[in-house]
This record gives sequence, structure tokens and C-alpha cells, in this order.
Amino acid sequence: MTMAASLWLAFSLLLTGCALGAKPFEGYLGNGNFEEQPKPKDLKKTVLIGKYALPKWEINGLVEYISGGPQPGGMFFPVAHGVHAVRLGNEASISQTIPVKPGTLYALTFGASRTCAQDEVLRVSVPPLSGDLPLQTLYSSNGGDVYAWGFIAKSKFAKVIFHNSGVQEDPACGPLIDAVAIKELIRPIPTAGNLVKNPGFEEGPHRLGNSTNGVLLPPMQEDFYSPLPGWIIGSLKAVKFIDSKHFNVPTGNSAVELLAGRESAVAQILRTVPNKTYNLTFTIGDAKNGCHGNMMVEAFAGKNTLKAPFKSSGKGEFRTASFEFKAIAARTRITFYSSFYHTRIDDFGSLCGPVLDEVRVFPVA
Ligand SMILES: *[C@@H]1O[C@H](CO)[C@@H](O)[C@H](O)[C@H]1NC(C)=O
Ligand SMILES: *[C@@H]1O[C@H](CO)[C@@H](O)[C@H](O)[C@H]1NC(C)=O
Ligand SMILES: *[C@@H]1O[C@H](CO)[C@@H](O)[C@H](O)[C@H]1NC(C)=O
Repeated sequence: MTMAASLWLAFSLLLTGCALGAKPFEGYLGNGNFEEQPKPKDLKKTVLIGKYALPKWEINGLVEYISGGPQPGGMFFPVAHGVHAVRLGNEASISQTIPVKPGTLYALTFGASRTCAQDEVLRVSVPPLSGDLPLQTLYSSNGGDVYAWGFIAKSKFAKVIFHNSGVQEDPACGPLIDAVAIKELIRPIPTAGNLVKNPGFEEGPHRLGNSTNGVLLPPMQEDFYSPLPGWIIGSLKAVKFIDSKHFNVPTGNSAVELLAGRESAVAQILRTVPNKTYNLTFTIGDAKNGCHGNMMVEAFAGKNTLKAPFKSSGKGEFRTASFEFKAIAARTRITFYSSFYHTRIDDFGSLCGPVLDEVRVFPVA
């Protein structure tokens, strides 16, 4: 079967679905969890031999096909989704071309971790867009970190590329990718009673099946491509997208967890009328994930700020906070971050923090 034919098969369901006006596409890429194994002749120990050795993917450079767990040589590779993963050597990449709808916003969701205690960077791209994901910070101690990255399709096909842009002295280092999924996103618009787009964080990236750690939203340059539509991750570190299945979420199916103090902020730019007064209301709480202590969410709008304290005993409680602000321009940026750093009481290696949900801004009559 040719590449084109297998692509067609993999996505015929998607195309039929669109024709029938079904729900937007969401799921793994072809062999997205790497469980479809290479032929024995295409493997030399763990190294994939040849451009098409990894089913449904194209590879370049030294790419290894590995099974999770302890490795020969003493390393341990965490594979949270399924059993198999790929490791990208220096300057190596894997790619896959998928059919998409031009002009539509998509989020890729992928499990990625570093293999050595060195600065490893994973470059995700869908040309002409690309983003660099530093993997130094481990957000959870079990290595099962899952990230999302957004892009807007420029044509009917998108080439999704994961590239190890770093060059490590030890060629056995390099990022591990253990699952890749995609979701077509809806770009939300503000409603009559609320200037905030996607106010309850209900629209967001795909969650990998066994993803109990939530999805990390890395800092973005552009809110236009955000995998959390409407919102900017305007900081140095990631914000976590959490769901009601694995966490306590104040309202609806999802929320965000501010997990790296002042380095982990979410923001949105609103259209406002200068000199008009607005009410900003939001919900803060804890995700019932072992994150205890005195928390504080700082909210900013125009020149006004509010420090909203919350004492978490890890029971999944929440409360509402609000303040009024006067717009000074036709655009007002609202920003939220956690004043403090927190880690889970049962696992000091896992960052956590206050949950933010239900952000509302409306003019005060
Ligand atoms: C979740 O984990 C179970 C057990 O490890 C596995 O059988 C199942 O295929 C996984 N599901 C997904 C969607 O990865
Ligand atoms: C806003 O109010 C100030 C002070 O009342 C006034 O000087 C300014 O012209 C007003 N700006 C607009 C855009 O209405
Ligand atoms: C903002 O609006 C909410 C909902 O109507 C209200 O409960 C709250 O008191 C208002 N906040 C301020 C500071 O006026």
C-alpha cells in the first residue's frame, strides 16, 4: 500500500465525518501511540533503519524504537501511554502528513519527556509554524508529562514534525515521545453577558486516554494559535489543562491549574470601552490532587489588581472572587497567576497550584 493510500484509509473516517457535519475530528495520528511495531528487518537493536521503518511515520536521523521501563545501560524510560515510544537522537526527527481543513485551529497533544538530566528541547512544527518546548522542567515526577501545541492549517495537508533541535554530548540522550494526538478546535467568541472568550476553559486540547496528569500548555508567543482557544500562556512555564474525570473542577468538564507560581500565567485581551467600569469575577479552588496550603491567585485588569487568597485542604473546594476595574483603553489585558509555588504533599516532585475557572467580565451599568 502506498503512503497516500494508507493516509487516505487512516483519515477516511475523518473526511466522512466532516461531510456529514459530524463532531470535529479528535484522536491519535496514524500509529500515534507507536504501538504498531516496525518489521524486525527495519530494526537494528533499538535503532530504526530507513526512512519508512516506523509504520505511518517518516524518520530522519537516529531514531530509536524503545519499550518503557529500565534500559540496558542503566537508564529508565517512562512510557505512560502504551508500551512503546520513540527517542530522537541529535538533530533527528519524525514526521507525518495529515489531511486538515485550511484556516482551522488544531491542537496537537503529545507525551514527551527528557531522557537525561540535560537541557533537552523538542521542536514541534507544522511549517511554516514551529515552537520550541524546553523539557528541563519536569512537572510530574513519574515522567508522564503531556503537552499541547496549537497551529492553524494553511492548506489541505499539514506536515507534523517533532525534531530534536539539540546536540547532546551523549548520543543516548534526547527527547522521548510516547503518543501523539490531534484535535480540531472551535474558536470561541464572547457572549452577550461575558466579554471573556472560552471563559470556563471548556474548549481545549485532546486528553490522552490514560492521562491522569492533565495536559501542559507551554508558553505561547501568539494567542491566535493557542491550544486553549482565546487564552495566552503569558509566562515562562506551563499552565495545566485539567479535566473533571481526573481532578476536581469547579464547573463543567475542565479548568486550568496554575502550577508554577508567577512563572505560570494565563491571560486574555478583551475589547473594552475606555472609561467604562467592568466587573471581573472568577472562581478559584483546589483540584483535590494533594495540593495543600495557603494559596493566592493574583488577578490583573487594566491598572487594577486583586489578590484572592484560598486555603486548600485538598478537598476540592472553591470560591468566587471579584473586583471592579475601569478600562483605560479599547483593549484590556486580564492576567491570572499564583503568588506561591506548591508541590503535592504525597509527591514533592510534582508541581501543583490553585485552580482557575469561570472567568467573567461584564460592564457595570
Ligand atoms: C490505558 O492503559 C491500559 C492499561 O495499561 C491499556 O490497556 C489501554 O490501552 C490504555 N489506553 C489508552 C487509550 O492508551
Ligand atoms: C475618560 O475620562 C477622563 C476623566 O474623566 C477624560 O479626561 C477622558 O477624556 C475620558 N476618555 C474618554 C475616551 O472618554
Ligand atoms: C461582580 O458581580 C457579581 C455577580 O453579579 C457580584 O456578586 C459581585 O459582588 C460583583 N463584584 C463587585 C466587586 O461589585
